[in-house]
Amino acid sequence: MTKNYYITTPIYYVNDKPHIGHAYTTIAADIIARFKRMDGYNVFFLTGTDEHGQKVEKAANKAGVDPQAFVDKGAQNFKDLMPLLNITKDHFIRTTDDYHEKAVQHMWNKLIESGDIYLDAYKGWYAVRDEAFYAESELVDGKAPTGAEVEWVEEPSYFFRLSKWQEPLLKFYEENPDFILPASRRNEVISFVKGGLLDLSVSRTSFSWGVPVPNDDKHIMYVWIDALTNYMSGVGYPDMESESYTNFWPADVHLVGKDILRFHAVYWPAFLMAAGLKLPKRVFAHGWWTNEGQKISKSLGNVIDPIELVNDFGVDLIRYFLIREVTFGQDGDFSKTALINRNNYDLANSLGNLVQRVVSFVMKNADGEAPGLLGLQEQDEALLTQSVEALKNVRAAYELQALNKVCDEVWALIGEANRYIDHQKPWALRKENPARMKTVLAVLLNTIRRIGLLVAPIMPTAGETIMAIFGETADNFDGYEREIEAGTALQPQDIIFKKLEGDA
Ligand code: MSP
Repeated sequence: MTKNYYITTPIYYVNDKPHIGHAYTTIAADIIARFKRMDGYNVFFLTGTDEHGQKVEKAANKAGVDPQAFVDKGAQNFKDLMPLLNITKDHFIRTTDDYHEKAVQHMWNKLIESGDIYLDAYKGWYAVRDEAFYAESELVDGKAPTGAEVEWVEEPSYFFRLSKWQEPLLKFYEENPDFILPASRRNEVISFVKGGLLDLSVSRTSFSWGVPVPNDDKHIMYVWIDALTNYMSGVGYPDMESESYTNFWPADVHLVGKDILRFHAVYWPAFLMAAGLKLPKRVFAHGWWTNEGQKISKSLGNVIDPIELVNDFGVDLIRYFLIREVTFGQDGDFSKTALINRNNYDLANSLGNLVQRVVSFVMKNADGEAPGLLGLQEQDEALLTQSVEALKNVRAAYELQALNKVCDEVWALIGEANRYIDHQKPWALRKENPARMKTVLAVLLNTIRRIGLLVAPIMPTAGETIMAIFGETADNFDGYEREIEAGTALQPQDIIFKKLEGDA
């Protein structure tokens, strides 16, 4: 039976240019999607743009352009980012797509039918930047707890009976302890819900850029109902018989930033429960990046442009750095020094050097052919076993989106392979014991091939380059444990990673 896997990123507001936050989630999702595909899953990887709401309308007005023209341009910036970051999305959704708007209205009607939406009036604070309502008691120095400016809103509004879902949500978290990861975030969400849930205003009348409320077009829908529904319309909802819907809903994981966890772990499951739909299996919240120790903000002018980064450092290094430097789920600091160190130590010295020195040694001293795994000794078995086990350990880490653990495992293997060379000294064996030298080289080549497969989801170019040495591609793990056939002629490739200046 085919195993399906559905992963999503948040959909990005088009009023901003793509920045490191967007690149981060998209790259993390891509790494997981690539791993799952290589591991035999039928994967659906969804990303896209969030194009409605007051924030976007205001930005379009400010730019003096029609909102549709504004969002078309904004969406294109995000689409252009995808090939640059080597992203293998299966679909790019836009909330202004017709099929999506219809799905959102369908969802709304379900919530009306279930009695979960009622008409009343809203009086309170709204932060356009967050597209979120705040209670008076939540304000800090007259601003939203996120620091966003708030404005007073008084208007007729539809409400979602969020209060009714407090107990079912708590029960759901209890029964599904891995629904929210990391665990620290889960605890935050549970205490928020335990603190009591107020009904949520879900329509606005004071601007017009959004999906109209069915049968009451003075109202447009609150942008988060619209936005969250992308995860379902993206796989065919409301056609619940469609192949994509039956294959992929409920989603395996929604990757989100910590700032939007509440929308995904509280509001979204409540909407779904109310509409009688299945809930996603997991919401994973990652942390935020600072830049050289400082909070990233437009006013500080320190926004990190992913296009510039990739042009300056190459896509493999950026992908690796973002998931290696920081435990996935925690906050982290971006710095050029850290980036260069990761390149020079982890990539050029450890991985690149391992491949380079073994392959050139085989070219010079073993006729450029892979020897067979003959007469294995204890240390040989140990390294080969570690390389086989690495896939199992990495697989378990991917199940928990523990991307840093994936790297730990792979670089532990790389480190071990380098130590093995130093102990075995193939250069000395060349004269003393050529048969033993061949065995050592065979052990190393088989390990390197497995490393090539393991790094491929993270650094697709490096993975393919390593596999090309053996005349293979990095498509899947089917032949992971297979031994390289003795006599296979190696095809040396260009150096994979060069050292960069500026080593600290
Ligand atoms: N449109 C909403 C999401 C709707 S999903 C149904 C949105 N968009 S966003 O463009 O503002 O943010 C997208 C993501 O970028 C969020 O997950 C956010 O956490 C992330 N980041 C923004 N700045 C960030 C950093 N400095 N570091 C890491 N991620 C950050 O929210």
